[in-house]
Amino acid sequence: MKRLLIDTWRWLDDRFGISALIGPSLKHLVPQDARWWYVFGSATMLAFIVQVATGVALAFSYASSSSQAYETLQFITNEAPFGSFLRGMHYFGASAMVLMVGAHMAQTFLFGSYKFPREMNWTTGVLLLGFTLVMGFTGQLLRWDQTAAWSVVVAAEQAGRVPLIGNFLAQFILGGTTIGGATLSRFFAIHVFIMPALMFVFIGIHLMLVLRHGIAEPPTAGKEVDPKTYRHEYEELMQKTGHPFWPDGAWRDFVFGTGLIIVIALLAYFVGPPVLDKPPDPSILHADPRPDWYLLWYFALLALIPRELEGYVMILGPVLIGILLLAAPILNNRGERAPSRRPWSIAVVLLSVIMIGSLWIVGANSPWSPNFDPPPLTEKVIGASSGPVFEGARVFQAKGCLNCHLISGDGGRRGPDLTYIGDTLSQGDIIIRIVNGGVNMPAYGNSIKPDELEQLTAFLQSRKRPMPAGLETTHR
Ligand code: HEC
Repeated sequence: MKRLLIDTWRWLDDRFGISALIGPSLKHLVPQDARWWYVFGSATMLAFIVQVATGVALAFSYASSSSQAYETLQFITNEAPFGSFLRGMHYFGASAMVLMVGAHMAQTFLFGSYKFPREMNWTTGVLLLGFTLVMGFTGQLLRWDQTAAWSVVVAAEQAGRVPLIGNFLAQFILGGTTIGGATLSRFFAIHVFIMPALMFVFIGIHLMLVLRHGIAEPPTAGKEVDPKTYRHEYEELMQKTGHPFWPDGAWRDFVFGTGLIIVIALLAYFVGPPVLDKPPDPSILHADPRPDWYLLWYFALLALIPRELEGYVMILGPVLIGILLLAAPILNNRGERAPSRRPWSIAVVLLSVIMIGSLWIVGANSPWSPNFDPPPLTEKVIGASSGPVFEGARVFQAKGCLNCHLISGDGGRRGPDLTYIGDTLSQGDIIIRIVNGGVNMPAYGNSIKPDELEQLTAFLQSRKRPMPAGLETTHR
């Protein structure tokens, strides 16, 4: 039996040339002291493979049409065997991939691995980071629920404010002038065809470069990179102390990668995929929803800066960061690699982490962002259990007003607290405000019926400060 297996393998290997093909890459020499620092690249690729596998599996049941996408996802989540688990894997796989790309970049940056002769390893890596983020953004819309649809509307609105090319950008994102089936088809094509194809090509190039130049040896302070001598020195070092990648170098990648997949699977099983919101419905206004966590910090940044600058920062920010990242090896491809001799590199990494982290915290607790899940107003708060005031309170909730406005402590904080609005605004003011909206408040003129408007106004007018107890008794 064993004989037969070995003979079969030999025959296949002879006819296909398998070991001749992958043998050299498995046996290529890696630095002896390449320790745990070096696992993030292979972990990123593993996360990518998880995404491809789970993504293909999801595509078996997902329909990318605006009338069916939401239903098919509900089917996947609630009925298909392992469907919810699969969505969870795809979601947490994406998160893992973003985290691993980040860690891999930080490590190669800190170790100066982007210097000669590995400049193009870095450049292709930066492009892969960009592709990964585009995957995250497009993938979110494929959920095709309220939050997904509105985040894209908001992105398009923001893109529309970019000077000169704004309109073009907004139309490009939406695939037209409004969000709809065309948007979904476009995002689907980008998410499952264009980006994955680009990623396969660039991951291929990236790996080819890793094999061509070898894995950068851990830096030693005082040992400078000089393009004239570096290749020769590296060659010598490998001959003296290098180990073949397989099996000596690979076991750490294997252990870390297995751990990563187990964590993704546990999260997918116990936490599960993001809950599907309601299907998108243009008459329920959910302005300004939040994107998935890896883009939340950017969203927070855009919300915090003054509105006049938003259009510039939105486009110029990423372009500038991209140019800086791409330029790093061009500006500086020789000299010291050790982080101890390049303290600014530690500062750059720390500052990026702190900045993204604090923006992320702001984004996560953002008082300026609507609250999408406010508890319903109680009868005690409303002060009535039937009649126009009561009906008005229900409209207040159904139209999403409560998502942005506080009433007696319940609701969102995006707009002003309306607990005592009846004291300050007249009936006419309230109606004008609802019909016309305001800065960061949508106009409801077209989406509210006259009787709803009347009830809503009655409810808001009833929001008055209670008479102080003393005053009441003197009146009696
Ligand atoms: C996306 C968040 C958002 C939603 C949804 C929203 N609002 Fe507002 N609202 C705001 C903001 C922000 C302001 C302040 C606007 C300004 O100053 O121009 C505001 C202002 C107001 C005001 C004026 C408050 C004052 O003190 O002058 C009223 C009244 C009001 N909203 C009522 C409503 C009602 C009723 C609804 C539902 C039909 C609603 N809002 C939905 C964000 C929102």
